[in-house]
Amino acid sequence: MEIVKHIPVLYEEALDLLAVRPGGLYVDATLGGAGHTRGILERGGRVIGLDQDPEAIARAPKIPGLTVVESNFRHLKKVLQGLGVERVDGVLADLGVSSFHLEDPKRGFSYAKEGPLDMRMGGEGPTAKEVVNRLSLEELYRILREYGEEPRAYRIAQAIVEARAKAPIETTTELAEIVRKAVGFRQAGHPARKTFQALRIYVNDELGALEDFLKQAAEVLAPGGRLVVISFHSLEDRVVKRFLRESGLRVLTKKPITPKAEEVAQNPRARSAKLRAAEKEAL
Ligand SMILES: C[S@@+](CC[C@H](N)C(=O)[O-])C[C@H]1O[C@@H](n2cnc3c(N)ncnc32)[C@H](O)[C@@H]1O
Repeated sequence: MEIVKHIPVLYEEALDLLAVRPGGLYVDATLGGAGHTRGILERGGRVIGLDQDPEAIARAPKIPGLTVVESNFRHLKKVLQGLGVERVDGVLADLGVSSFHLEDPKRGFSYAKEGPLDMRMGGEGPTAKEVVNRLSLEELYRILREYGEEPRAYRIAQAIVEARAKAPIETTTELAEIVRKAVGFRQAGHPARKTFQALRIYVNDELGALEDFLKQAAEVLAPGGRLVVISFHSLEDRVVKRFLRESGLRVLTKKPITPKAEEVAQNPRARSAKLRAAEKEAL
């Protein structure tokens, strides 16, 4: 088996902005491969780690100071209530799909690897296969335009509807090929990149979950507590930026923090990362 080395994005920057203090209690809302969580534990913090993905929960290290909960982070307050926790000293979210899922063809995230069209990160929501085979032309168009910012959304939606009239679209590579035939190779990157992004955001209601999460995170922070969010595309970053502006928290990052060139060279996934942080005013 190929070993995928997990490098947490903006690792030092995220931990520094979280201002971890020994004995403090932190939420890692996106446990994933537990890279950031290990950093918090190493700095003496305790962590409640959430992930909606059962595989991430199963892989979580069993170490003192770490409590893991399988949940979508949009239920943050309920999760904390269940643990009898009212206030935390910091909340971190490193959004998106973990690299071990992107690499796993069975999960259906990759246009480059043949797999079933799934794309669900947790147990909720429709699969991407249901979405491409069932939604109307207009709905597909809207999803591709809004969540993929795909300029040729209509052409692609039409091609999907034409293809599925012949036979249901089953796999990632089938869909990637339908998109490629519809629009060719004129834009930068694979022509299906934006289509896959759009479907993933829709399937997982990523922007809705993010909004629910941000509101609750701001509420559960203790005075002086910090919220740190790393996002990977402009739609997410816009939601975070707007929320921080309107939340009443003190914004610590006038401009988002982005990875240094060395980090991007080592980890291409870091390329589009943007980190924003804010602090709840001390009483
Ligand atoms: C980029 S990875 C996090 C990597 C982690 N920071 C590390 O250092 O290993 C994102 C993780 O968040 C999870 N995730 C994404 N959206 C989520 C949500 N709405 N609720 C809970 N977990 C979510 C994914 O399943 C994935 O495991």
